[in-house]
Amino acid sequence: LAVDEFALKVLAWYRRHGRHDLPWQVPDPYVRWLAEVMLQQTTVTAVIPYFQRFLAAFPSVRALAQASQDEVLAQWAGLGYYARARHLHAAARVITEHYGDGFPRTADAWAALPGVGPSTAAAIVAFAFGVPAPILDANVRRVLSRYHAVSGRDARALRTLWTHARDHTPTHEVAAYTQAIMDLGALVCRKAPDCAACPVAAGCAFEGEDAPTVRRARPER
Ligand code: ADE
Repeated sequence: LAVDEFALKVLAWYRRHGRHDLPWQVPDPYVRWLAEVMLQQTTVTAVIPYFQRFLAAFPSVRALAQASQDEVLAQWAGLGYYARARHLHAAARVITEHYGDGFPRTADAWAALPGVGPSTAAAIVAFAFGVPAPILDANVRRVLSRYHAVSGRDARALRTLWTHARDHTPTHEVAAYTQAIMDLGALVCRKAPDCAACPVAAGCAFEGEDAPTVRRARPER
């Protein structure tokens, strides 16, 4: 496909209905990495104050690398899943040692760092560098498994979903598309989906089955 219809529709929806004012929406690999790690197991609303406080305490990867583990854990306190903080700290030291004042530029290089899985790695390079890389976090998995009628959570289903994720990911506007597909999952294609608000409902295998037909109230952001 030269131009993926799915991606175009999701991007058009995102321009009007997506989130554009999240505090980590800046093209800085350190900021994007920190945000994506915090967002792995914590909601946007809960992350925002921690993100801002952590970034004020450790404004650069070098500042984070030079901090003690106790200082890092103190700034993480309350967010939970503390292995994330320990991995973040360890990865900061790897980055400053191996990349000097730079950062990994590919998803594979990010995924080699502690605490960075394949989807987080792809999100970081898409957001920070505009590198086309497919993501498949929980939200996106829900969108694509419904759209393409992929059931199950086994390795085979996951492989199929990664293939769909790759096929839909555009080469242009990849940062916007990555936020867009995340937002679609978080705001529309929720556990109880709002199919009436969905830009890709017409092509979706899920719509019409047991999908609700009544438009819901605008979800909380
Ligand atoms: N969840 C994971 N990454 C996210 C992001 N960049 N924006 C909003 N929610 C997210």
